[in-house]
Amino acid sequence: MATRAAASLLRSRAAFQQALIGWYRVHARDLPWRSEPSLYRTVVSEFMLQQTQVTTVLPYFARWMDAFPDFTALAAAPEDRVLRLWEGLGYYARARNLHRLARILAGGAEAPREAASWIGMPGVGPYTAAAIASIAFGEPVACVDGNVVRILARLTADATLFPNGAAAVKALAPVAGKLVPEVSPGDHNQAMMELGATVCLRAVPLCGSCPVRRFCAGAKQGDPAALPRLSPKPSLQRVVARVWCEKGGALLLHRAGSAGGRLAGLHELPTAEQAGIPAAEAAQGPLLATGKRSITKYRITESIHRVAPPKGPLRPGLAWVPLADLDVPALSGPHRRWVKQILDKRGDKAS
Ligand code: ADE
Repeated sequence: MATRAAASLLRSRAAFQQALIGWYRVHARDLPWRSEPSLYRTVVSEFMLQQTQVTTVLPYFARWMDAFPDFTALAAAPEDRVLRLWEGLGYYARARNLHRLARILAGGAEAPREAASWIGMPGVGPYTAAAIASIAFGEPVACVDGNVVRILARLTADATLFPNGAAAVKALAPVAGKLVPEVSPGDHNQAMMELGATVCLRAVPLCGSCPVRRFCAGAKQGDPAALPRLSPKPSLQRVVARVWCEKGGALLLHRAGSAGGRLAGLHELPTAEQAGIPAAEAAQGPLLATGKRSITKYRITESIHRVAPPKGPLRPGLAWVPLADLDVPALSGPHRRWVKQILDKRGDKAS
């Protein structure tokens, strides 16, 4: 069925493109990287929009453009400042890669025009490469992510059970590619993103408002919300004890070094292990805050305990940061919230 529906969709390609773009021109949200486009604004917005929703990105995008209006300004900024402006958006590798990319482009390298040449630049995978090349340079290549997969699986009534999102992207990319027009491919891609974000919703698709419903085999079959079919992800539980340790008006923080992976350059409340305190001993300290979060396949439960300062010299990566200066270092999102929550509770102010 999926193949027959896909062939039928592709036969109606021109009518599909027209219905989609006509709808987009009327209904697209007015977003700052659309109303005032440039290569720089496209690149920054696409980095910020990786794994993050438009409404979350908007205030960050505005602050970023004030602080770093172009590649040259971004390239000249120290990494700490870049991370501080990214603070709260998460997935900090994106900020470091964007910074590296700015240094490459501001250093005189000419920006590539094709998606194939963007792939492999710092932080640029196939989706971001296609978004940049189609939006900023008009190359007719498709952006295919979870949203686009959802739309295409429904349009073609593809009921394949995909082992994961990457397999679904790979399977549906050929159809996505054939649907992209030569004219305004960037608008077509953004129209697909817009449809996925505002109409073809995951749990409750708004088929009554869909501009391409007449092309949709999934809607005709009656249960588009059931598509795409993806195997459930296994999840692993982790428990982490962290410490809140103060001395002389300063708080003990851990700064991940350059080998610190996704956290490199960021400060966090240290784990018991980082502070050199056995986790079981730290867990005996008064409980100040708890949190749950998910990172990739891990479901992490964290608890923060007040403990006495560690004895002897500090372990690598640890530093005493005066409570009055806590707004200077970049903290990862949950840690900024915990610090604020703990200080607010006892009447101090962490700005
Ligand atoms: N998600 C990724 N890129 C986007 C864009 N250009 N507009 C809206 N949402 C997006």
